[in-house]
Amino acid sequence: MLASAQAAGVELHASCRNGTCRACLRRLHSGQVHYRIEWPGLSAEEKAEGFILPCVAHPACDLVLVAQG
Ligand code: FES
Repeated sequence: MLASAQAAGVELHASCRNGTCRACLRRLHSGQVHYRIEWPGLSAEEKAEGFILPCVAHPACDLVLVAQG
């Protein structure tokens, strides 16, 4: 997801790009993502609140992210 967003000109902060540093942590406004494995950088509570790690997330449909303030 991160690579696609950046290719489309969407600026998303990132560092490790492997799901561990949490620099890319963002919240979904709508849509769903899936992961190939369970990433330690994201808790079950954060997932339930809609947070995702774009560097390792794969979109399951069109996504809308909450803007960072
Ligand atoms: S860039 Fe490090 S977790 Fe996404």
